[in-house]
Amino acid sequence: MTERRVVFTPSGKRGDFADGVSLLDAARRLGVDLDSVCGGRGICGRCQVDVAEGAFAKHALDSRADHASPWGAVEQRYVDKRGALPPGRRLGCQAQVSGDLVVDVPPESQVHRQVVRKRAEEHPIEVDPVVRLHAVAVREPDMREPTSDFRRLQEALAEQWSVAEAEADIAVLRTLQKALRAGDWTVTVALRNGREIVAIVPGVALEAYGVAVDIGSTTIAAYLCDLASGAVVASVGAMNPQIRFGEDLMSRVSYVMMNPGGDAELTRAVREAIDALIGEAAAAAGVARGAIVEVTLAGNPIMHHLALGLDPTELGGAPFALAIDGACEVKARDLGLDVAPGAYVYALPCIAGHVGADSAGVVLAEAPYLADEMRLIVDVGTNAEIVFGNRERLLAASSPTGPAFEGAQISCGQRAAPGAIERVRIDRATLEPRFKVIGCDLWSDEPGFSEAAAGLGVTGVCGSGIIEAVAELFLAGVVSADGVIDGTLAARSARIETVGRTFAYVLNEGPPRLLIYQTDVRAIQLAKAALYAGAKLLIEHRGAAPDRITLAGAFGAHIDPVYAMALGMIPDCALDKVASAGNAAGTGARIALLNRASRAEIERVVRGIEKIETAIEPNFQTLFVEAMAIPNKADAFPNLARRIDLPAPTATPDGGRRRRRGG
Ligand code: FES
Repeated sequence: MTERRVVFTPSGKRGDFADGVSLLDAARRLGVDLDSVCGGRGICGRCQVDVAEGAFAKHALDSRADHASPWGAVEQRYVDKRGALPPGRRLGCQAQVSGDLVVDVPPESQVHRQVVRKRAEEHPIEVDPVVRLHAVAVREPDMREPTSDFRRLQEALAEQWSVAEAEADIAVLRTLQKALRAGDWTVTVALRNGREIVAIVPGVALEAYGVAVDIGSTTIAAYLCDLASGAVVASVGAMNPQIRFGEDLMSRVSYVMMNPGGDAELTRAVREAIDALIGEAAAAAGVARGAIVEVTLAGNPIMHHLALGLDPTELGGAPFALAIDGACEVKARDLGLDVAPGAYVYALPCIAGHVGADSAGVVLAEAPYLADEMRLIVDVGTNAEIVFGNRERLLAASSPTGPAFEGAQISCGQRAAPGAIERVRIDRATLEPRFKVIGCDLWSDEPGFSEAAAGLGVTGVCGSGIIEAVAELFLAGVVSADGVIDGTLAARSARIETVGRTFAYVLNEGPPRLLIYQTDVRAIQLAKAALYAGAKLLIEHRGAAPDRITLAGAFGAHIDPVYAMALGMIPDCALDKVASAGNAAGTGARIALLNRASRAEIERVVRGIEKIETAIEPNFQTLFVEAMAIPNKADAFPNLARRIDLPAPTATPDGGRRRRRGG
């Protein structure tokens, strides 16, 4: 029998095959990464390959289009239905070997294709989800050979997909008989970890989806992903309905402590919100809920516990014991989620009592455990979760920043929303401000701003606006390094007003009239000092400075690194190495959804992270006090000083350094 040489690229795998063997079979025998859902029926189109033409000296063979069987009826049916294929392209399950061949597997036909991410330091995601689809033809029942429908499905999976002893729970089995008959004895199963069937649909189904959810204290984000391509087909968000039980996390834990059954109420609220978001995402993408076969969850420890129905009371006080810290898998239906009947929810592991599955998601997304450079990653929220280190050693801590960065506890503060002031500049000579509001591209001193702002209705200052306002006040010499508004400047500018025994700065004459009070500056100082001291503590433990700083979280996306540093929220670092990662916790949940190996990886990494509890660290208080100064009483900011004109430090009677605006 004549054997033909077939070489697959880009893998370089090769073998000799008899005439008539399909390219899909040849690929499988060689372990080439070539996809298939329909099992060679010419329906799914996942097995597409390019047949190369020419003399390949390297492989010592001539490859020609006619070294594969002629274009057949099944392929014609496919293109009639799904559109033409590129030149030279064949369905691997239909094209058969009839001569020597070089066959290229394009990226979209690889089982383990990659999703490239935007930033250079981000690693591509290899799409290899825990759930895969397999179409399977099942023997019809026969009175002479009585076996159950499920037994015959198991046999068919073993024969056609080499799946041994597939399992299914009762909710999935309830759908089996109807699906088999509706599909005329062909069904597609969604198989999890190569073993458990989580959904059965009639006929050949080509699409399976998953949802990655990040539960923040303020907002919940959900990303509906195509499990074959890895693409996000819908992303939706909503306010966390638990806000009605308390703005911040601790007030929600207090609610649970004070109200019997409060934990169940909070659990119900968050689960209903997640289910509603899944429904909204599915509707937006035109996807049936039943096609959603896996869900992943990230969230801070309290949100994580509440979503899973674990009592968060212990997280409300020292020693902040988690109920569980490992990753957790539960049936989605047990959380009240209306998705495929056997689908699971995978919750990422928590790191410590205050450093949750959201931080695990951030670590997975940013992968500092693969980096040579020292990476500082801060997830800025009502509680800052901080991770520092590199491939050799990672540390994590949380710091109680409070909600000031989100605009709460600030007299003119508000959440980021259209109409909120988000950018602030203050003229160094006249002390006059100009600002930008969310929803308008114009600065407040540009023509047309008043009309645009009137339409938006300027209402307050959001977190990034407060940070810029206080940092600019410091850079303009209105606020001292100790955070005191200098009342002597009232003689120079009507923007400085006396308020009792302190002073305020008029940011907007209005309407509405918006003032930055001394108490606002203090609130920001306390928040930024907590964040900085937490980061500094890890830096001291590790004995190295950060080479790169990443601001995670929705809020981090809006902070200008220059102002974050000028205020002393974050330590000094080359400014081009400070960037926002957006919702990195959500990205981590998406990676765990799309790549099964990433789950074992993050579970391993999290176990190895050293947890530093700021509350019991003897040095934390000292670092906190130093960090109350703007930008810091003890630390220099050489990188920042190269970019902006920092007020010159002056000696103070207590031996520390005070900063005053230099000439
Ligand atoms: Fe589905 Fe070839 S394997 S079309």
